[in-house]
Amino acid sequence: MKTTVGTLKDKKQRKEKITMLTAYDYLMAKILDEAGIDLILVGDSLGMVILGYNTTIPVTLEDVLYHTKAVARGVEKAMVVADMPFLTYQADKVEALRNAARFLQEGGAQGVKIEGGVLMAETVDFLVRRGIPVMGHIGLTPQSVNQLGGFKVQGKDIEQARQLIKDAQALDEAGVFSIVLECIPYPLARMITEKVSVPTIGIGAGPYCDGQVLVIQDLLGYFKTTPRFVKKYAEFGKEAKRAVAEYIKEVREGKFPTMENSYPLSNLVLEELEKNENS
Ligand code: KIV
Repeated sequence: MKTTVGTLKDKKQRKEKITMLTAYDYLMAKILDEAGIDLILVGDSLGMVILGYNTTIPVTLEDVLYHTKAVARGVEKAMVVADMPFLTYQADKVEALRNAARFLQEGGAQGVKIEGGVLMAETVDFLVRRGIPVMGHIGLTPQSVNQLGGFKVQGKDIEQARQLIKDAQALDEAGVFSIVLECIPYPLARMITEKVSVPTIGIGAGPYCDGQVLVIQDLLGYFKTTPRFVKKYAEFGKEAKRAVAEYIKEVREGKFPTMENSYPLSNLVLEELEKNENS
């Protein structure tokens, strides 16, 4: 059965944990879907892990749209959420609606994610009333990294903590179907999770959220160093380097390809070819 906003709400009520991971291409999306993930986020983190930028700020609508289309082709059951990039929804709510609609109409996503709390509540309400399922995102919001002064834990002092509670409540009232809580202390994440009606999905927000999300490259161990909140479930980075180094060595030494990796030609054709060559 396809995951819907209703499925997620039911899971929160039943206290069943929700799983979300990022994916940016067809093959990975298919693997996550077949493994049984609930939600796939085509995150603007693709700017950092796919395109090599230092932040998510240079990511464009076309970048996320392109990757959303690829992901949607690989998915049958999971709900696909496209991350709206910087300045595709902040300036004006009508522009936000037109841009969000592209992710659903052209990209094949079933929802969009936008960063921000109280300030974005009016836009969320505008989108939701027009048929766009919206996921909120508060705490460490990477599109505001320059204002936050780096990728730091948020909500550590009383003012910030109170503001984050207000942000979550404003998003809940505006009609989001879920809220990502990124890099906030776990007691605060727990409090927010208890206060809002929709599922919270944590990343660096501890175990008491309704669900969890990680960037797939972090989980698979593509990077040597990762933030404290990441758990590496594999070491794909090391394994990929080992495999590529072995390939380079074998090609250089003439050990690859062998006859087993090559296509034969019938003697008849070969003799005919050689006859032509010699005449
Ligand atoms: O862009 C992204 O991958 C995200 C997740 C880390 C929540 O926003």
